[in-house]
Amino acid sequence: MDKVILTGDRPTGKLHVGHYVGSLRRRVELQNSGDFKKIFIMIADAQALTDNADNPEKIRQNIIEVALDYLSCGLDPDKSNLLIQSQISELCELSFYYMNLVTVSRLQRNPTVKSEIQMRNFEASIPVGFFTYPISQAADITAFKATTVPVGEDQLPMIEQTREIVRKFNSIYGDALIEPDVLLPDNKACMRLPGTDGKAKMSKSLGNCIYLSDSPDDVKKKIMSMFTDPNHLQVSDPGKVEGNPVFIYLDAFCKDEHFERYCPDYACLDEMKEHYTRGGLGDVKVKKFLNNVIQEELEPIRNRRKEFEKDIPSVYDMLKKGTENAREVAAQTLSDVKSKMKINYFDDMELIAEQSKKYN
Ligand code: TRP
Repeated sequence: MDKVILTGDRPTGKLHVGHYVGSLRRRVELQNSGDFKKIFIMIADAQALTDNADNPEKIRQNIIEVALDYLSCGLDPDKSNLLIQSQISELCELSFYYMNLVTVSRLQRNPTVKSEIQMRNFEASIPVGFFTYPISQAADITAFKATTVPVGEDQLPMIEQTREIVRKFNSIYGDALIEPDVLLPDNKACMRLPGTDGKAKMSKSLGNCIYLSDSPDDVKKKIMSMFTDPNHLQVSDPGKVEGNPVFIYLDAFCKDEHFERYCPDYACLDEMKEHYTRGGLGDVKVKKFLNNVIQEELEPIRNRRKEFEKDIPSVYDMLKKGTENAREVAAQTLSDVKSKMKINYFDDMELIAEQSKKYN
């Protein structure tokens, strides 16, 4: 079977280094591996609207930001279809039929939805669209016949729910849908990068993100003021590396070769961690090293972004083409789904013949 990738992001803000190590960097590798017949990268604006109904302008403004971040990381429209979810109405139709295959209680048990409801204080009044977005995400994934969904750990429940919908559909109506596999980041630190303040997640509202498009100065400021081990007060004190965001970022970003370039006192991260744990290594030195490592990774991204920013109309044009290509595939899937469900009445010659025999 041909391998197909689908993944995406909600356009609620610029993408940050958490998105990068958790997913974007891997997507580019997968894109360039040649292992995939097709790749679909979705800007999930309709999903973003499920909890931003009162602020559509935010979503509208951020579509181009996400597209620019994609391009600057190295996603290449010649190899990957970049598309806008809301422009493919077939996805809504698929969702509508999938809704019949999912119970309310199953949605209530979805751990990601559960924690998002809490985070948004939606407990008393959950928008129905938000509550059911896992179903629409199943439509996203199945519409493009994706075999592989590279996402962060927080999306696991969505993929599980999709697989259940696929199995249920195929068993009731006959095989039409493909059960996708999740592809998680291979490095544990990349699963979920904490915020620069040490909070579990980077989030725009907490102001604890390093954005891919931040200037070198901003990146440096954010890194130099990062939260570390609060008990590591003096250089000579022993420090903790577990749960220390500076070291988690190093786990996600640094390679042995960076030490040669920026911190030749150590051969590898383990040696540096060992020194920090023992005591005698100050936070400032570790942060300066982290800054060098991250700046090296972000510089080419930032430079490519500046190039793409010069021609915004052609970025929209690229999105339009990507969306059109994707729409053809989704339309084919919808047509397969409707024939399996036998709701393709006008093409169903057997049905028409049968009914006319009944009356004549
Ligand atoms: N839920 C994803 C997020 O919040 C975005 C998304 C929408 C997605 N549709 C998808 C991811 C399909 C993977 C596959 O980031």
